[in-house]
Amino acid sequence: MYHHVKKLMYTVNIGEPDVRFGNMLLEQFGGANGELAAAMQYTIQGWNCVDDLGRRDLLMDIGTEELSHLEVVGALIRMHLKPLKTNRQAAEADPLVTIAGGGGVALFDSMGNAWTANYLKVTGELDVDLRSNIAAEARAKIVYERLIDHTDDPGTIDTLQFLMTREITHMKAFTAALDSLEKAPFSIGRLKPTPGIVDEYFNGSTGDGDEGDTDMRGPWESSFDLHLVESPMNGGKGLSVGEVNGKIAGEDRGRQDESQKATTSVADETLGKKGAGSSRAGNGRVATAKRGR
Ligand SMILES: [Fe+2]
Repeated sequence: MYHHVKKLMYTVNIGEPDVRFGNMLLEQFGGANGELAAAMQYTIQGWNCVDDLGRRDLLMDIGTEELSHLEVVGALIRMHLKPLKTNRQAAEADPLVTIAGGGGVALFDSMGNAWTANYLKVTGELDVDLRSNIAAEARAKIVYERLIDHTDDPGTIDTLQFLMTREITHMKAFTAALDSLEKAPFSIGRLKPTPGIVDEYFNGSTGDGDEGDTDMRGPWESSFDLHLVESPMNGGKGLSVGEVNGKIAGEDRGRQDESQKATTSVADETLGKKGAGSSRAGNGRVATAKRGR
C-alpha cells in the first residue's frame, strides 16, 4: 500500500529559472540512470524478494525513497522550465515539454527519449541484483555531479547535493547488504566455472595505437589466480579450450553432475529424468513438446 504525504523530502528553492538546465535535469527524471528507474528497479526487486525478508525491507525502503527523490527532481525541473509556458525563446529549450507536455514534466530524458522498463536490471538473484543496484547508485551519483557542474544557482545546487549524497548512502546500504550475504566475490549462481579457463586472462588487444595506447600490464591479469594468455595471432597458445573436451577431471558441471543445480533448474521429472512413461510424464516439458509435433 502506498500513501502520499504532501511534503517534499527536501525543500526546493531556486533563483532565476534556467530552462536549458531544466531540460538537462530530465536525465534524472525519465533518463536511464534517473530516479524513476531506481525507484522501479529496487521496488520490483523487493516485491520479488520473498525469501529474504530483511533485504526485501531494504529494497522497499530505498525504492520508496527514490520515488520521493523523483518528486523532488520533478519539482526542481518544473521551477526551471516555468518560462517555457509563456516565452517563445525559452520554449525552444524543450519543444517536447512545451508543446506535448504543456510545460510539465513527463517521463522523457533530456533528448526526448521515452522512459523504458529496459533501463531496469531485475534478475531475481539477490546478490546479482544488489551488485546492479550499487552500480546504479554510482551512475546516478556521477550524473548529479555533472549536473552540479553546470549550474551556479545556490538553491539548485543545494537540492542536487542532497540527492547526490543519498546515492552514496544507498551505495553503503546495498554494499552492506551484499557483504552480509557472505558469498565469495566470484560465487555467482550455483554452477561452477570450468577450472583452468576461468583463470586465463586473454590478451585480446595488442600492438601500438595512434593515441599512445600499447599493450599494458596490470593487476587485472594477475590477481585472483589470473594469468596472462597470449593469442595464437601473437605466437601464443591461446585459451586452453583446445585441451578441454567434455567434462574434465574434478569438475563439477551442473547439468552433468547430479549434485549441482543451476539457479533456475526445473525439477528432474519435468525433464523426463524420472518416471518417464509414468502418469507424471504427461505434465513435463518433454511430453508436452512431443504432443505438439
Ligand atoms: Fe535517488
